[in-house]
Amino acid sequence: MKPIKLALFASGNGTNVQQITEYFADKPEVTVDCVVYNVKDAYVAQRAEKLGIPAFYHNRHDFMETDVVADLMKEREIDWIVLAGFLLLVPANLLAMFPNRIINIHPALLPKYGGKGMYGHHVHEAVVANHEKESGITIHLVDQHYDRGTILFQAKCQLTEEDTVDTLAQKIHLLEKEFFPKVIEKTVMGR
Ligand code: GAR
Repeated sequence: MKPIKLALFASGNGTNVQQITEYFADKPEVTVDCVVYNVKDAYVAQRAEKLGIPAFYHNRHDFMETDVVADLMKEREIDWIVLAGFLLLVPANLLAMFPNRIINIHPALLPKYGGKGMYGHHVHEAVVANHEKESGITIHLVDQHYDRGTILFQAKCQLTEEDTVDTLAQKIHLLEKEFFPKVIEKTVMGR
Protein backbone atom coordinates (compact mmCIF):
# COMPACT_ATOMS: atom_id res chain seq x y z
CA MET A 1 0.00 0.00 0.00
CA LYS A 2 1.25 3.45 -0.90
CA PRO A 3 1.47 5.78 2.13
CA ILE A 4 -0.98 8.65 2.42
CA LYS A 5 0.95 11.80 1.57
CA LEU A 6 0.52 15.00 3.55
CA ALA A 7 1.57 18.52 2.64
CA LEU A 8 1.83 20.79 5.67
CA PHE A 9 1.07 24.49 5.09
CA ALA A 10 2.50 26.95 7.61
CA SER A 11 3.23 30.63 8.12
CA GLY A 12 5.20 30.89 11.35
CA ASN A 13 7.19 29.12 13.98
CA GLY A 14 6.32 25.58 12.91
CA THR A 15 6.01 23.76 16.24
CA ASN A 16 3.00 21.89 14.87
CA VAL A 17 4.90 21.00 11.70
CA GLN A 18 7.66 19.54 13.84
CA GLN A 19 5.27 17.60 16.07
CA ILE A 20 3.30 16.17 13.16
CA THR A 21 6.46 15.18 11.29
CA GLU A 22 7.96 13.48 14.33
CA TYR A 23 4.71 11.66 15.06
CA PHE A 24 4.50 10.15 11.58
CA ALA A 25 8.23 9.47 11.22
CA ASP A 26 7.89 5.82 12.25
CA LYS A 27 4.44 5.22 10.79
CA PRO A 28 4.48 3.67 7.32
CA GLU A 29 0.82 4.44 6.51
CA VAL A 30 1.17 8.23 6.49
CA THR A 31 4.08 10.35 5.34
CA VAL A 32 4.81 14.07 5.61
CA ASP A 33 5.93 14.84 2.08
CA CYS A 34 6.65 18.56 2.23
CA VAL A 35 6.06 21.92 3.87
CA VAL A 36 4.66 24.88 1.96
CA TYR A 37 5.02 28.28 3.61
CA ASN A 38 4.03 31.80 2.66
CA VAL A 39 6.15 34.01 4.95
CA LYS A 40 9.68 34.36 3.68
CA ASP A 41 11.53 34.43 7.03
CA ALA A 42 9.24 31.99 8.84
CA TYR A 43 11.18 29.77 11.24
CA VAL A 44 9.26 26.78 9.92
CA ALA A 45 11.64 26.73 6.93
CA GLN A 46 14.60 26.03 9.23
CA ARG A 47 12.65 23.40 11.14
CA ALA A 48 11.79 21.65 7.87
CA GLU A 49 15.42 21.64 6.86
CA LYS A 50 16.45 20.11 10.19
CA LEU A 51 13.70 17.51 9.82
CA GLY A 52 14.89 16.71 6.31
CA ILE A 53 11.62 17.67 4.62
CA PRO A 54 11.48 19.72 1.43
CA ALA A 55 10.05 23.19 2.08
CA PHE A 56 8.62 25.38 -0.67
CA TYR A 57 8.11 29.11 -0.29
CA HIS A 58 5.23 30.67 -2.18
CA ASN A 59 4.01 34.19 -1.61
CA ARG A 60 0.44 35.36 -1.38
CA HIS A 61 0.27 36.10 -5.09
CA ASP A 62 1.38 32.55 -5.97
CA PHE A 63 -1.31 31.11 -3.72
CA MET A 64 -4.15 33.43 -4.63
CA GLU A 65 -3.61 34.28 -8.29
CA THR A 66 -1.82 31.29 -9.82
CA ASP A 67 -1.86 27.50 -10.00
CA VAL A 68 1.72 26.99 -8.88
CA VAL A 69 0.77 25.53 -5.50
CA ALA A 70 -1.95 23.34 -7.02
CA ASP A 71 0.56 22.14 -9.61
CA LEU A 72 3.06 21.37 -6.85
CA MET A 73 0.43 19.29 -5.03
CA LYS A 74 -0.33 17.39 -8.23
CA GLU A 75 3.31 16.83 -9.09
CA ARG A 76 4.05 15.46 -5.59
CA GLU A 77 0.85 13.37 -5.54
CA ILE A 78 -0.37 14.90 -2.28
CA ASP A 79 -3.46 13.26 -0.73
CA TRP A 80 -4.25 15.66 2.12
CA ILE A 81 -3.28 19.21 3.06
CA VAL A 82 -2.84 20.07 6.74
CA LEU A 83 -2.83 23.72 7.79
CA ALA A 84 -0.43 23.92 10.73
CA GLY A 85 -0.48 27.60 11.63
CA PHE A 86 -1.23 28.76 8.07
CA LEU A 87 -2.72 32.23 7.94
CA LEU A 88 -3.96 32.74 4.39
CA LEU A 89 -7.46 31.86 3.26
CA VAL A 90 -7.20 28.65 1.22
CA PRO A 91 -7.80 29.58 -2.44
CA ALA A 92 -10.64 28.10 -4.49
CA ASN A 93 -8.39 26.05 -6.77
CA LEU A 94 -7.00 24.09 -3.79
CA LEU A 95 -10.46 23.68 -2.22
CA ALA A 96 -11.71 22.23 -5.50
CA MET A 97 -8.73 19.90 -5.73
CA PHE A 98 -8.99 18.72 -2.10
CA PRO A 99 -12.70 18.59 -1.20
CA ASN A 100 -12.96 17.72 2.53
CA ARG A 101 -9.30 16.82 2.43
CA ILE A 102 -7.85 19.94 4.04
CA ILE A 103 -7.54 19.97 7.84
CA ASN A 104 -6.97 23.08 9.98
CA ILE A 105 -6.19 23.65 13.62
CA HIS A 106 -7.51 26.73 15.38
CA PRO A 107 -6.31 27.76 18.85
CA ALA A 108 -9.77 28.37 20.36
CA LEU A 109 -13.13 26.71 20.79
CA LEU A 110 -14.85 27.56 17.50
CA PRO A 111 -17.24 29.10 16.66
CA LYS A 112 -15.93 31.47 19.33
CA TYR A 113 -12.85 33.51 18.47
CA GLY A 114 -12.74 32.52 14.80
CA GLY A 115 -12.75 34.45 11.54
CA LYS A 116 -10.44 36.79 9.67
CA GLY A 117 -7.67 38.27 11.81
CA MET A 118 -8.21 35.73 14.58
CA TYR A 119 -4.99 33.78 14.60
CA GLY A 120 -2.19 32.93 16.99
CA HIS A 121 -1.70 35.45 19.78
CA HIS A 122 -4.63 37.62 18.60
CA VAL A 123 -6.93 34.79 19.63
CA HIS A 124 -5.27 34.42 23.04
CA GLU A 125 -5.38 38.18 23.63
CA ALA A 126 -9.12 38.25 22.99
CA VAL A 127 -9.76 35.21 25.19
CA VAL A 128 -7.78 36.68 28.11
CA ALA A 129 -9.33 40.15 27.68
CA ASN A 130 -12.79 38.59 27.93
CA HIS A 131 -11.89 36.73 31.16
CA GLU A 132 -12.98 33.43 29.66
CA LYS A 133 -12.99 30.48 32.06
CA GLU A 134 -11.89 28.06 29.36
CA SER A 135 -10.37 27.92 25.90
CA GLY A 136 -9.00 25.10 23.78
CA ILE A 137 -8.33 23.85 20.29
CA THR A 138 -10.56 23.05 17.34
CA ILE A 139 -9.53 20.76 14.50
CA HIS A 140 -11.80 21.07 11.49
CA LEU A 141 -12.17 20.53 7.77
CA VAL A 142 -11.59 23.61 5.64
CA ASP A 143 -14.12 25.29 3.40
CA GLN A 144 -14.16 28.69 1.71
CA HIS A 145 -14.72 30.61 4.97
CA TYR A 146 -12.20 31.20 7.72
CA ASP A 147 -12.69 28.70 10.56
CA ARG A 148 -16.15 27.48 9.56
CA GLY A 149 -15.83 23.93 8.17
CA THR A 150 -17.01 20.71 9.83
CA ILE A 151 -15.53 20.26 13.29
CA LEU A 152 -13.62 17.00 13.76
CA PHE A 153 -12.37 17.46 17.32
CA GLN A 154 -12.18 19.91 20.21
CA ALA A 155 -10.26 19.81 23.49
CA LYS A 156 -10.52 22.30 26.34
CA CYS A 157 -8.24 23.85 28.91
CA GLN A 158 -9.28 25.79 32.00
CA LEU A 159 -8.26 29.39 32.62
CA THR A 160 -7.90 31.35 35.84
CA GLU A 161 -7.59 35.08 36.44
CA GLU A 162 -3.82 34.55 36.73
CA ASP A 163 -3.50 33.33 33.15
CA THR A 164 -1.79 35.61 30.65
CA VAL A 165 -1.54 35.48 26.87
CA ASP A 166 1.73 33.56 27.29
CA THR A 167 0.46 30.97 29.76
CA LEU A 168 -2.65 30.45 27.64
CA ALA A 169 -0.47 30.00 24.54
CA GLN A 170 1.52 27.34 26.42
CA LYS A 171 -1.64 25.47 27.40
CA ILE A 172 -2.87 25.57 23.81
CA HIS A 173 0.45 24.31 22.45
CA LEU A 174 0.32 21.36 24.84
CA LEU A 175 -3.16 20.44 23.59
CA GLU A 176 -1.99 20.80 19.99
CA LYS A 177 0.96 18.52 20.65
CA GLU A 178 -1.18 15.91 22.35
CA PHE A 179 -4.04 15.79 19.89
CA PHE A 180 -3.33 17.26 16.45
CA PRO A 181 -1.16 14.44 15.03
CA LYS A 182 -3.56 11.76 16.32
CA VAL A 183 -6.63 13.49 14.88
CA ILE A 184 -4.87 13.89 11.53
CA GLU A 185 -4.02 10.18 11.58
CA LYS A 186 -7.58 9.12 12.35
CA THR A 187 -9.05 11.46 9.76
CA VAL A 188 -6.81 10.58 6.83
CA MET A 189 -7.00 6.86 7.63
CA GLY A 190 -10.81 7.12 7.63
CA ARG A 191 -11.20 5.87 11.19
C1 GAR B 1 -1.00 27.39 16.42
O1 GAR B 1 -1.33 27.69 17.75
C2 GAR B 1 -2.25 27.24 15.60
O2 GAR B 1 -3.33 26.73 16.33
C3 GAR B 1 -2.51 28.65 15.17
O3 GAR B 1 -1.25 29.19 14.89
C4 GAR B 1 -0.30 28.59 15.77
C5 GAR B 1 0.90 28.18 14.96
O4 GAR B 1 1.96 27.75 15.79
N1 GAR B 1 -3.39 28.70 14.02
C6 GAR B 1 -4.23 29.70 13.80
O5 GAR B 1 -4.33 30.67 14.54
C7 GAR B 1 -5.10 29.54 12.56
N2 GAR B 1 -6.16 30.50 12.53
P1 GAR B 1 3.18 26.97 15.18
O6 GAR B 1 3.65 27.74 13.94
O7 GAR B 1 4.22 26.99 16.25
O8 GAR B 1 2.73 25.59 14.84
